[in-house]
Amino acid sequence: MTATQTSAPIAADPPAPAIAATGLRKSYGDKLVLDGIDLNIPEGTVFALLGPNGAGKTTTVEILSTLIDADAGEAWVAGRHLTRAADAVRSLIGVTGQFSAVDNLLTAEENLLLMADLHHLDRSEGRRRANDLLRRFDLSEVAGRTTVTFSGGMRRKLDLAMTLIGDPRIIFLDEPTTGLDPRSRRTMWEIIRDLVADDGVTIFLTTQYLEEADQLADRIAVLDHGRLIAEGTADELKQRIPGGHIRVRFADARNLDTAAGIFGIATREEDSLTLQIPSDGSIPNLRAVLDTLEATAVRAESLTVHTPDLDDVFLTLTGQPRPAGTVASPKENA
Ligand SMILES: Nc1ncnc2c1ncn2[C@@H]1O[C@H](COP(=O)(O)OP(=O)(O)O)[C@@H](O)[C@H]1O
Ligand SMILES: [Mg+2]
Repeated sequence: MTATQTSAPIAADPPAPAIAATGLRKSYGDKLVLDGIDLNIPEGTVFALLGPNGAGKTTTVEILSTLIDADAGEAWVAGRHLTRAADAVRSLIGVTGQFSAVDNLLTAEENLLLMADLHHLDRSEGRRRANDLLRRFDLSEVAGRTTVTFSGGMRRKLDLAMTLIGDPRIIFLDEPTTGLDPRSRRTMWEIIRDLVADDGVTIFLTTQYLEEADQLADRIAVLDHGRLIAEGTADELKQRIPGGHIRVRFADARNLDTAAGIFGIATREEDSLTLQIPSDGSIPNLRAVLDTLEATAVRAESLTVHTPDLDDVFLTLTGQPRPAGTVASPKENA
């Protein structure tokens, strides 16, 4: 009962990941859906699995949340082995899927209380938690309404609230904002951010929206044809691909001319008096450009740095123009 491992001040092991997986594979018949997925997701972070329709996102969530078995590979969720300790995993996670668990014949409050019963909370504790969640998600006023009257955004919020009744440490959100209007989407984003900031939970979310991954995730993995073809922070992914540049605007055509002669590889735009100089967006690169301008006494008016966005990243990585479902069009979702 003296010093414990966890209080060791130096050389502490990194915390166990919330989710770790190696070589997850899954086929349906002769269709290979997941072709060897490795994951390592630290506790208290948001991980986004980004991919077009049919990429295997839901299949991954179903495996990691013990709903279906992988054909091969191993995984640990909340430090528990996914198959050898499946019950323990289930008790520590929450899952909200593309298809809502909300019962339309019940009121919002009844849905939450039903969930509290399923988690064996006693009546008063269940009520307390249900009311807290209704307040937190701005649903108190509609608590007594049957959910058949709810908008898509309200339903998603209730669905997430129902997941939170069990106080999960790891939450899987399968396409949490697909089909929502922009305003409901923003509300959902705020809720997700608050969950991580206030409760320290780990979030594994899937999305077809590049912007959503960029907005929410600490790390993003791009899933394409059953493989993770890239992984990193949004910034790391953006840096991996060409297309970044510095745009310099000049006072007049003469200065533009001179600069174009100096920066041979740059693209010039006569109308706007600008030069686009390829750049990785790094400080040394920016400094080199500024130093060159200064040394040659070219008069530049203004300068902007353009880093590629995730759309560029996906197109570069997959080499395909606009993969089906990756754009913000719900048409492919039918
Ligand atoms: N139960 C199933 N039986 C047969 N094929 C399935 C089943 N579930 C998913 N698939 C197929 O696996 C592929 C990946 O599906 P899914 O994981 O749902 O992709 P995503 O969630 O990224 O849209 C799709 O081609 C889909 O048709
Ligand atoms: Mg899916």
